[in-house]
Amino acid sequence: MMDRRTFVQSLSATAIAISANAQSLTGADAEAARQIAPTQDATPLRVGVLGPGSRGKELVRSLLRVPGVRVTAAADVYAPRFAELNRVCGYEVPSHADYRALLDRKDVDAVLVATPFGLHGEHVLAALQAGKHVYGEKTLAFTLEESAKIVQAAAGTQRIFQIGHQYRYSPWIRAALARVQQGEIGEVTHIMGYWHRNNSWRRPVPEPSLERLINWRLYNQWSLGLLAELGSHHMDIANWVFGSTPTAALASGSICKYHDGRETDDNVQAVLSYSGGRRFIFSSVTDNAMQGDQLWLYGSKGSLNLTLQDATFFYEPHRASRVAAAQQGAAVTSASYQAAGEMPYRGPGQPVQVTTAEDPTTAATRAFVYCCRTGTRPIADVHVGYGSALCVIPSNQARLLRREVEVPAAL
Ligand SMILES: NC(=O)c1ccc[n+]([C@@H]2O[C@H](COP(=O)([O-])OP(=O)(O)OC[C@H]3O[C@@H](n4cnc5c(N)ncnc54)[C@H](O)[C@@H]3O)[C@@H](O)[C@H]2O)c1
Repeated sequence: MMDRRTFVQSLSATAIAISANAQSLTGADAEAARQIAPTQDATPLRVGVLGPGSRGKELVRSLLRVPGVRVTAAADVYAPRFAELNRVCGYEVPSHADYRALLDRKDVDAVLVATPFGLHGEHVLAALQAGKHVYGEKTLAFTLEESAKIVQAAAGTQRIFQIGHQYRYSPWIRAALARVQQGEIGEVTHIMGYWHRNNSWRRPVPEPSLERLINWRLYNQWSLGLLAELGSHHMDIANWVFGSTPTAALASGSICKYHDGRETDDNVQAVLSYSGGRRFIFSSVTDNAMQGDQLWLYGSKGSLNLTLQDATFFYEPHRASRVAAAQQGAAVTSASYQAAGEMPYRGPGQPVQVTTAEDPTTAATRAFVYCCRTGTRPIADVHVGYGSALCVIPSNQARLLRREVEVPAAL
């Protein structure tokens, strides 16, 4: 485990690296670097946690690394969460069974909403209406109507709304996508996203009456399954790369492996169409982890692989073998299959060098504090959230209807 001195040293090294980096960046990248830069500013920010479950506590761990942040209240319908949160904070956090009591508190400036997906709309809207800054976990809201209300509410307040698409703050993804925007792999026409795991997604439940509260991801009441829980992150990155939201969605899925009473599919596939015929294709399975969590961006000059830890460029192989074969008199037609001509480059690729491989959630929560303190619009703002909702919700409709669904325009 890292001791405090080493932690502070590595933080300063990160700060120097990020601020040096910030000086050479422009536009949105410079803004992102400013937002995520480590800070000595300890202006108090009092945070309330709505739903301190697995993700809520993770966000708190990250937020408490920022000077000046204190958790001043929590709300949850499941009481054991409060003791768990107290352990993370190292002090007793005032707790409420009803989230409205948390929103009434004057000692809460900002609220983390980390409740099950189906509750985001109600909780985010109430928090914004109560005059709080909000870090809302993805996906923005369960329906496009609720999502649009959040866009309106965020526009009508001086408060900050940041969506939990933390990969927008990932240094290696930002660095790689800046190079893609400059044409390094040609025009990107296709993106493949894999999020493959080998586990049932089921959590242990202390008693049967808590099944739907604890395993909410497996039931339609609050969950749109893998499309929302995993796909939304990849769909957000596809929107970012393509610079727009999709025009149409196709999707399918099934319960193939885990016949355990769940309602949401244990595997899904989605195809999102973007203008000009560009496509994002997503696959999630839960009984084989070979592909893991990765995206592939394909352009005419090369490919980019993005993972949770790194980014690697691969360039298209030269057609040298084809030319050599033609010079030797071999019959080469566009119809003949030549392994040498069809085989991809199989080398290690060229990793994207970055000055920090900091966890994106740490960077995203630090950026949230910066935005609350300075009134700056977050990089992952409400429109980023609405964009991924525009992918997830129509994909789910397409899955249910078993046909392509038109996607409405972004707001
Ligand atoms: N950005 C990411 O990478 C990421 C990762 C994991 C989870 N998430 C998101 O975070 C959210 C929570 O996921 P999780 O895994 O932490 O779920 P969880 O079940 O562990 O936590 C949710 C908490 O909300 C509480 N809750 C339920 N109903 C409530 C209500 N009416 N009022 C107050 N509290 C209530 C539950 O008791 C629980 O403690 C989801 O939207 C999920 O998609 C995001």
